[in-house]
Amino acid sequence: MRSIESLKSIENKKILLRLDLNVPIIDGKIVDTNRIDKILPTINYLLKKKAKLIIISHVGRPNGKIVNDLSLAPISKFITEKIKKKVFLLKEDIFKIKKDEIFKNLDEKIIILENIRFYPHEEANDDRFSKKLASLGEIYVNDAFSCSHREHASVSKITNYIPAYCGLQINEEINALDKITNKIKKPVTCIIGGSKISTKINVIKNLIPKFDNIIIVGAMANNIFKYNGYSIGNSLYELNLNNLIKDIFLFANNNNCKIHIPIDIKVGKNFNGNSTEKEFKDIEDDDIILDVGSKTLKEIKEIIDKSSTILWNGPLGYFENSNFSLGSLEIAKYIADKGDKIFSVVGGGDTVAVINSIKIKNKFDFVSTAGGAFLEYLEGKILPGIKALN
Ligand code: 3PG
Repeated sequence: MRSIESLKSIENKKILLRLDLNVPIIDGKIVDTNRIDKILPTINYLLKKKAKLIIISHVGRPNGKIVNDLSLAPISKFITEKIKKKVFLLKEDIFKIKKDEIFKNLDEKIIILENIRFYPHEEANDDRFSKKLASLGEIYVNDAFSCSHREHASVSKITNYIPAYCGLQINEEINALDKITNKIKKPVTCIIGGSKISTKINVIKNLIPKFDNIIIVGAMANNIFKYNGYSIGNSLYELNLNNLIKDIFLFANNNNCKIHIPIDIKVGKNFNGNSTEKEFKDIEDDDIILDVGSKTLKEIKEIIDKSSTILWNGPLGYFENSNFSLGSLEIAKYIADKGDKIFSVVGGGDTVAVINSIKIKNKFDFVSTAGGAFLEYLEGKILPGIKALN
């Protein structure tokens, strides 16, 4: 990969900078700034070289539609405060932007395009959209390791139309991950949480031969509860996954990898409500599963005790509501307290937010900004965004 450091003169050059500013935002407030803090050196480096920046990022999964709560407005405000230079949020339809009109005001040096996933073309890796995006700048820089596993227009196809370079953070992240893959010692346990099992199912399958235990938590586990015939009340789940789940368990069995799921849970009547610990048999129709129960925590701790390496991506519950954050916090502290006895790697925006909230980030051997990308990299996959830079 060609790094931005190899670029000779970029004074006044328009640089399209793909970042992953997908940070947790609640009521317009950024809950954890880790991902933004990590890319500030790249922004400052390019500004010092007097380049003009057009920042591209997504937040959340708006599915190709404008969702006001997923605007990049709070992020552009935060970056403005951090770098003490105005970042202009450009809400105009990308297809209508005229290249020469960007930076028309002399004091504009940094522009941030509105959430790129408001356009269905982004996730479709659309050719016309990639070409239009590329036409806005002269150089493309990817410093978004955490979404480089996505074959999306602003990550992958765009590099067909513009000279592409990597940023400072992406290099650092890849070097660190390469080092840790050599340090992984068996037994290896991977804790995988989050909401969508369908987006991680292939990763789980590919990790099975490498790992001894996979603990599936978060809303992802709901699909398995349902598959096992348990009632999950009003909890989130995805349709048509039974065959995939069956395959996963069969494959795990054949590869001596044990898949664990919660044995008890905490439920609420809504995401902002109070929590009640329950057994599956007591779940009511309007209950939503939002955290793991105490028996599950005990079991996970026992698995951690028997592991030499822990890889963790995805909170155990809906940690945004403190009534459901106990599972994630307890496990975070338990791993951290193991100190040198365990090699611990944590990845993903939400998981990093959990460990940051109790200020124990430096107790882990490595903390990656990436979640899905981190798991796919561990699988040994060549990520589309990285491939596009080579
Ligand atoms: C992440 O948070 O892992 C990245 O921003 C990618 O997000 P995605 O899983 O919605 O593609």
